[in-house]
Amino acid sequence: MNLTIKSAVEHLQNGRLVAFPTETVYGLGADATNADAIRKIFELKGRPNDHPLIIHVANIELAMQYAFFSSTALKLAERCWPGPLTLILEKTDATLSEVTGNRSTVGIRIPDHPIALELLQELNRPIAAPSANPFGTISSTTAEHVHRYFENKILILDGGPCRVGIESTIVDLSCIPAILRPGVIESSLIEDIVGPLGTSTTAAPGRLEAHYAPRTQLILSDTPEKTRQALISQGKRVALLTQASPQDYARNLYAELHRLDSLNFDVLVAPRASQTGIGIAINDRLQKAANGSKASETL
Ligand code: TXA
Ligand code: MG
Repeated sequence: MNLTIKSAVEHLQNGRLVAFPTETVYGLGADATNADAIRKIFELKGRPNDHPLIIHVANIELAMQYAFFSSTALKLAERCWPGPLTLILEKTDATLSEVTGNRSTVGIRIPDHPIALELLQELNRPIAAPSANPFGTISSTTAEHVHRYFENKILILDGGPCRVGIESTIVDLSCIPAILRPGVIESSLIEDIVGPLGTSTTAAPGRLEAHYAPRTQLILSDTPEKTRQALISQGKRVALLTQASPQDYARNLYAELHRLDSLNFDVLVAPRASQTGIGIAINDRLQKAANGSKASETL
């Protein structure tokens, strides 16, 4: 667990995988210029090969070697990076097709985390990284989560709990600008720079209806206390996720799901967030977690 940045860089240079913290969730990283290393990510995650990866870079100059930036894309990047925003842009020849699942576009971002940034600067190459969890399971927001999933199959840089807690907002600028995945960077901020957003026409494999799934049944509810009482009266062992400010709800969401999922409850009840701002991203993850959990149900 006590991996230093220097040895993490060496491991990446040698084509090995390194899990590292970002402000959103932990990433399962590989040198994005090494096709063999990229293949190891898909193998370890059990992820379909056509499911594209995000590449992480240390600065915009490097980003421009791997993707074509329009003036709008550049403005948005300068406003939000380093930060929890991924841009989908046309890729350059420098971006490997293994990373993009043979698409002409690439997802790219500069993460806002001192360890991630130091790692990227020292490596001086992009790091391809999906969230550090097996395909379809809850993302990791601590080094312990990563370790529980992958044990000793992977080296982990421990940066403590992630500050944001849910994955980056994904904005597709390769066609009509649209949000592919909501996050804590809200649509209003993006529209200020990009103009009105459309509905995405991109077929994004990551937008599966079932995702982020705990093993325990998860119910998303507008009236969580009432739902909890009703389930208890049916003899069920029920846990209620804590209602909090949207920032805190997002930050603790996956850690709470990890914790409660290990405690043998019959059902987890999650309060639906108000459908504005960060709440939209929280409800998106909760709905996908509910869809993927043991017996999906929404009350
Ligand atoms: O916050 C995050 O974005 C985290 C941290 C580690 O950076 N990463 C992350 O990666 O969430 P992943 O692989 O779990 O989710 C990336 C999503 C997937 O749904 C994928 O389909 C989509 O981004 N994506 C990546 N490249 C794409 C592309 N060229 N076109 C459309 N969707 C793309
Ligand atoms: Mg993921």
